[in-house]
Amino acid sequence: MARQLASRMSRLGTETAFEVLARAKQLEARGRSVIHLEIGEPDFDTPGNIVDAGVNALRGGATHYGPSSGLPEARARFADAFGSARGLKIAPEQVVITPGAKPILYYTIVALAEAGDEVIYPNPGFPIYESVINFTGAKAVALPLREENDFSFDPDELRALANDRTKLIILNTPQNPTGGVLTRKDLEVVAEVAQKHDCWVLSDEIYSRILYESQHCSMLAIDGMSDRTVVLDGHSKTYAMTGWRLGFGVMPTSLEPVVSRLQTNIASCTAAFTQLAGIEALHGDQSGAETMVKEFRVRRDMLVDALNEIDGVTCNRPGGAFYVFPNVKALGRNTDELATMLLDEYGLASLSGTAFGKYGDGYLRFSYANSQENLREGVSRLKKCVQDLGSRAS
Ligand SMILES: Cc1ncc(COP(=O)(O)O)c(C=O)c1O
Repeated sequence: MARQLASRMSRLGTETAFEVLARAKQLEARGRSVIHLEIGEPDFDTPGNIVDAGVNALRGGATHYGPSSGLPEARARFADAFGSARGLKIAPEQVVITPGAKPILYYTIVALAEAGDEVIYPNPGFPIYESVINFTGAKAVALPLREENDFSFDPDELRALANDRTKLIILNTPQNPTGGVLTRKDLEVVAEVAQKHDCWVLSDEIYSRILYESQHCSMLAIDGMSDRTVVLDGHSKTYAMTGWRLGFGVMPTSLEPVVSRLQTNIASCTAAFTQLAGIEALHGDQSGAETMVKEFRVRRDMLVDALNEIDGVTCNRPGGAFYVFPNVKALGRNTDELATMLLDEYGLASLSGTAFGKYGDGYLRFSYANSQENLREGVSRLKKCVQDLGSRAS
């Protein structure tokens, strides 16, 4: 008994992308060719001006502990960039800088939710939401995002799911895994519901700069939301800085000491040189980030068109992020088995939609953070699999 794990560990989920990546790497180590469309990571290197800023910071001695909430200079410059992108005035005291954006999810959910509370989260959605909600003992209430609504939610469904036990509503725009984008109208419905039930909102806006046809609308831009909203943002996706581990949250000043205390207990602080590189990312030359978005758009169009040519596969054209979420229900296969078969037999690494929650069943997620050549090869492997399934069936 003494050597058993704490029971809360059975409630902690995972992010399947990392498991599939590990499995795909094992296959490659055995000499198999694998096309990687599973992991949500830009295939570009961090732009040179940002790397230089990081190296200069290291050489300049930025190798020590810093304040838990972030270096004062970095908090101020992140607040400026975040605010001017959204037309808002943000104080440095509202910003907590973290090693990657993910800790903001953990800190916010753990700070706010506990047994007896309910937390509404998007489903399909980034799997860490559901995992951490369950970990706290709060009830995870899935808000379905359906293809027929362009992977947005139904306002009446949100209204019906919320009640006076609802402590927090989580939303994400642009969205992982579907690439869907919420409109100002959608956000106004979230605001109406949050105000009615006096609850918090956690708005995951990490893909806000990877948008193709529309302008980003932030939850913080909606009237009356600034004292109940935490916005998650970060450098990983926009600046191809996944491995640097740099993200931040913008929150009411009343919540900042609480989130900082969690950070003191868990990570102490974020590496100083990554924060200084992060200032250059936000305020320096933006051409690296802009080139990436242009290229992602070309890939999105190419991939969506190619997927729609495969019998039994349909794919909508997402407005943001770098994922597509094709519907494969017509293939008549269990989605998890299909994803496993694609990797093991055809060398195509993707994620089953169920890795993002039960409403992801019947879909696959492909990340198009990969070269056009690899995307073409990936589609042709999927096509071969679909043809083989058809001939096995007949
Ligand atoms: C929706 C969403 N939120 C947060 C994160 C976490 O980002 P980071 O790598 O900066 O921790 C990711 C990464 O995949 C994501 O897709």
